[in-house]
Amino acid sequence: MKNVAVIGSGTMGNGIAHTFAQNNFKVSLIDISEENLLKAIATIDKNLERQLTKGTISQQDKANTLSNIQTFTILKDGVKHADLVVEAASENLEIKLKIFKELDEICKPETILASNTSSISITKIASVTNRADKIIGMHFMNPVPIMKLVEVIRGYTTSDEVTNNIMELSKTLGKSPVEVNDYPGFVANRILMPMINEAIYTLFEGVAGVTEIDTVIKLGMAHPMGPLQLADFIGLDVCLSILYVLHDGFGNPKYAPCPLLVNMVTAGKKGVKSGEGFYSYQHGSKELVVAEKFS
Ligand SMILES: NC(=O)c1ccc[n+]([C@@H]2O[C@H](COP(=O)([O-])OP(=O)(O)OC[C@H]3O[C@@H](n4cnc5c(N)ncnc54)[C@H](O)[C@@H]3O)[C@@H](O)[C@H]2O)c1
Repeated sequence: MKNVAVIGSGTMGNGIAHTFAQNNFKVSLIDISEENLLKAIATIDKNLERQLTKGTISQQDKANTLSNIQTFTILKDGVKHADLVVEAASENLEIKLKIFKELDEICKPETILASNTSSISITKIASVTNRADKIIGMHFMNPVPIMKLVEVIRGYTTSDEVTNNIMELSKTLGKSPVEVNDYPGFVANRILMPMINEAIYTLFEGVAGVTEIDTVIKLGMAHPMGPLQLADFIGLDVCLSILYVLHDGFGNPKYAPCPLLVNMVTAGKKGVKSGEGFYSYQHGSKELVVAEKFS
């Protein structure tokens, strides 16, 4: 594999493009928004600069990585040479099904189509294509250039060959892939999202404030950040979508999203990416500005 297309240039798409490009793949980064593509390239540049300052890459590595990435707003133009497509568009079933239907029609027959979805069924995505054996989940973690895990999700119809291929490919990116089966939330979010939702309920019911909840989990359970701050980093809209998938997929009320989360997303408070969630952030920066908003 040499040519990789990444669809969606948001939080995850820019990190996935960065990681492939740094490992000498030719990357086509595709988004419907020209503005998001510009922001993504600026973010990749900034993150490479940070790696350069730390001494983990050279000036030449930075230049090579950037020159390996081309941007596109037309899907067909971006995927025509792709051996692998990694879709990282918004977490919305209709959007993903439309993209995969189109990809199946326009990509080479041998192209593997992967989704970075956090929770949407890979089997369902495969069902709208004529290459169900070549549809797979490649669930990277945020921030992609740093986090080691790739949750490789095998749909009901994904072939052994494609699964092995993606497991090996993930290792060549310096990642540690783990193979899991396709059930709602897979492993990572089936366990993480109920914890985040419970933290939001704990806040909603007035048991403790934002920093108290995060501090208990950080210091008491040795997590690097508390669940509310983590939710801000993931994106509150993404968390809400995943909880809906768990709720629908298992039909179990324990996954019902907390009304406070629903309200915040409706009000446009999506966490770091919108500048405000459980904490405030200077726009575009990941620095916490005001700790308490709810206590
Ligand atoms: N945020 C996380 O921590 C995280 C972690 C793992 C997986 N994911 C998954 O990764 C995917 C992307 O999440 P994100 O947080 O990067 O979202 P995001 O909102 O930051 O970015 C989504 C991007 O997709 C683009 N897009 C929407 N429809 C499109 C289309 N039809 N064609 C091309 N581009 C399109 C948008 O313009 C936007 O730039 C989701 O499936 C999400 O569940 C997110």
